[in-house]
Amino acid sequence: MKKWTKKELCRKLKSPDELTEMHEQISGSVYRQTFHIQPVTGLLNDPNGFIYKDGVWHLFYQWCPWGAVHGLKHWYHTTSENLINWKNLGVSIYPDTYFDNKGVYTGSAMQLGDDIYLYYTGNHRDDDWTRRSFTCMAKLTDGKLAKKYSAPLFGPCDEYTENQRDPKIVYDEETNKYYIIMGAQTKDNRGCAIIYSSSDPKFGWEYRGKLNVPGFEDFGGMWECPSLEHLGDHDILIFCPQHLTLEGHGTGTNHCGYIIGYMDYENLTFTPDGSFHVLDFGFDFYAAACCANVNEKNKAILTAWMGLPDASYPTDSENWSGCLTLPRELSIRHRRLIQRPIKGLESMRENQISPGLGMLPSSAEIAVTIYPEDFQMSLFSKKDGTGGLSINYIDKIREITIDRSNMNIRFNNENGESRTRILDNGLTHLRIFIDHSSIEIFVNDGDAVFTSRIFPEETERYFTLSDCTSINIWELNPTVKDDFVI
Ligand code: FRU
Repeated sequence: MKKWTKKELCRKLKSPDELTEMHEQISGSVYRQTFHIQPVTGLLNDPNGFIYKDGVWHLFYQWCPWGAVHGLKHWYHTTSENLINWKNLGVSIYPDTYFDNKGVYTGSAMQLGDDIYLYYTGNHRDDDWTRRSFTCMAKLTDGKLAKKYSAPLFGPCDEYTENQRDPKIVYDEETNKYYIIMGAQTKDNRGCAIIYSSSDPKFGWEYRGKLNVPGFEDFGGMWECPSLEHLGDHDILIFCPQHLTLEGHGTGTNHCGYIIGYMDYENLTFTPDGSFHVLDFGFDFYAAACCANVNEKNKAILTAWMGLPDASYPTDSENWSGCLTLPRELSIRHRRLIQRPIKGLESMRENQISPGLGMLPSSAEIAVTIYPEDFQMSLFSKKDGTGGLSINYIDKIREITIDRSNMNIRFNNENGESRTRILDNGLTHLRIFIDHSSIEIFVNDGDAVFTSRIFPEETERYFTLSDCTSINIWELNPTVKDDFVI
């Protein structure tokens, strides 16, 4: 695998022409997606600044142009009117100031008056490579580039290590203040979230302290991408604890999950009402971003990076990696988050495929209704029915297991190759979305989701399944254009 030098990692993009040839090659890959947001070249990681305004959804993502590597990060901008058809608008924030000289890192957005403001981490490194994180702001303009404010809102807090980043801005009605919650690491290497507040979101930010989350004082070594969302009568703390192993997740130490509870901004305390749950039971899911209370109160849409830090993917050798998940709509049931595919995805269906053929289109939706009894399905198997990704459900213990260890192309095996979840109720329904290199399995109308990258070879195009009540398969139309826009 290519070894990247610091100089190569931090190379500045001067003109789109530098990437034309690479994009041409990449767009020929059999693993390019057709209804998921993906990078024109290079690496995509976290979704950023997810916001809705005047009929348009804006979604940015972390982008490194040069290859499948965590080099110099930009904010790449995409928009949609329906969360289904997405348009590439190009880079909105470049790493071109002192404060973000080594990357424009993850952040969020807020509408203030008629404008959208973007809050992000300027990842600064001194010549000796010491890192200092600055919390910066930019205003979205009619032009391509967001207008950066010349000075950061605040710099790093010296109570923590250099790991402080990912501002999420929220407004709290009760205290009538704006808050920024960020991920941080204490000097004794514990993950936490820290809070800043201000009466004016454009200046006057003050450090308030560490967020108290009783019972989670020693939970991982760094928290990335924390956010506080309000849904119904509950608050939700979403975050990515790192340096933590979880049962059933192999040796993987990066997770993305949530705690439901109550947030007290006055006392900087989030009181959990339940435990930490992973958001998704699949293999590739991280840095979830939520856009809540849009249009209707209680509506919250979530998307995430279909990838993991410190992991490599089969398309790395093609100089691209990463994509975002389909947006999901959140709700709460029995103190758990339910994630349903957003409404309207049916419009992607092109034609119905006869299941009798036992063959899978490269972009497909599969809906299966199941009697609540044992069930097996194998996707991407070979013509003789062997191999593939298996879904296995044992009714007696209500346990569903996804296993990708029999695919020809295996990757990140150390994070485990099977994932299991005990369902609250028997398995009755699966809604599966397959793109060229991903699979999202929604179980029982959003009770659990398994999201994974998958890289089937030419011979892995078949499926088999045990008895079920009904199965429908549709080939899906492309909805995300692979336009080369920088
Ligand atoms: C999470 C993360 C963030 C950081 C960004 C850099 O994947 O490490 O903490 O801001 O990615 O791309």
